[in-house]
Amino acid sequence: MIDILELDNQHTWHPYNSLPSKTTILAVKETYGQTIVLEDGRKLTDAMSSWWSAIHGYNHPILIQALETQANTMPHIMFGGLTHKPAVELCKKLANLSGLPSVFLADSGSVSVEVALKTAILYQKAKGKNVSKFIALNNAYHGDTLGCMGVCDPKNSMHSLYGEYLPQNIFCDITDLGETITNYKDEVAGVIVEPIVQGAGGMKIHNPKYLQVARELCTKYDIPLIADEIATGFGHTGKMWGCDHANIKPDIITVGKGLTGGVMTMAAMMTTKNISDTISSSDIGVIMHGPTFMGNPLACSVANASIDLLLHSSWEQKVKNIENIFTQELASLQKLNIVQDTRNIGAIGVVELKDDTHAQTIQEYCVNNGVWIRPFGKLVYSIVAYTISDEELYKITNTIKKALESLK
Ligand SMILES: Cc1ncc(COP(=O)(O)O)c(C=O)c1O
Repeated sequence: MIDILELDNQHTWHPYNSLPSKTTILAVKETYGQTIVLEDGRKLTDAMSSWWSAIHGYNHPILIQALETQANTMPHIMFGGLTHKPAVELCKKLANLSGLPSVFLADSGSVSVEVALKTAILYQKAKGKNVSKFIALNNAYHGDTLGCMGVCDPKNSMHSLYGEYLPQNIFCDITDLGETITNYKDEVAGVIVEPIVQGAGGMKIHNPKYLQVARELCTKYDIPLIADEIATGFGHTGKMWGCDHANIKPDIITVGKGLTGGVMTMAAMMTTKNISDTISSSDIGVIMHGPTFMGNPLACSVANASIDLLLHSSWEQKVKNIENIFTQELASLQKLNIVQDTRNIGAIGVVELKDDTHAQTIQEYCVNNGVWIRPFGKLVYSIVAYTISDEELYKITNTIKKALESLK
């Protein structure tokens, strides 16, 4: 029998890690519902929904069926010059859901953000404006490719590692967003924000006002407002889109993660008819981007099934119930000495600690007590599938509580 962990240690470079890994790696054998089964037989209740993607839990029969059916007819076909039913149905669904009719399918969240940035630059160029900088927010996270890193928080991300290779952009705090847009209106191609919740850059939850300010000024100066809904989209904050909390419609939306219910890698960028028409009717004419696996039929089919499943479920009620349990359970942690703050919205619960030395100990405690969680820095957070039972969610919150109490 092969020793998975031994092979892993020799050849497999894990995300945000060294080779061999500096931290414990667990070998997973299978998944179902909210459960991760390890090769050694241990079962873990999942507090992470595979980095916010498995919104229906694991191995949902409807999603597996969609995948199997599609695999039997056409697993993949190039998208240049060809189209197919799963892709056009998906674009129609995304257009209806977002109110943005022009859809570009991409293969990961980061790629969809790259496409969004390129679209904004092309839009400006088509209008005769040669601008390529973006306004982005401190604590932002938009992905790990170079263009995306260029709009991630300059201090807590990887700017120091890649230096001048990264595009130079303009950063501000949320409270200064309006003033920054006004000051730099002639120099920027677009404004990019995570709506309501800033995820991997700090798990911060914001008042929706900044989105309204950005909307108003971006309309006034004809600057595309890009809402990166990769983490917040498909109901994670209790509404379909983070932007719904502010009642605004951005000019460009990026989605990923929950799009296929976490089954296949897929993302998309949606934009307005004005933007796609302006580019298409200009001398530029085309969007110069075309991933090999763009519009992959397996991913499109499972995304269609996942969206239908979501829309035909009582997801709002389920996410509200999760929010209520997080609110009640996290409040009791505030009295602990090591806790700086707790906050939550929708299916997202966050505990911020006073220092950043405990992440690994907390993770080990949780795994030893049957819960999978991946704290980073000062942040212990959980984002759960909407199908989680109360019992499973209480198991997660109680285990986090005990892990923190064990540190006192
Ligand atoms: C807001 C946001 N944008 C972009 C990304 C990048 O997506 P991916 O990891 O699929 O490339 C992420 C991933 O965590 C994200 O949270």
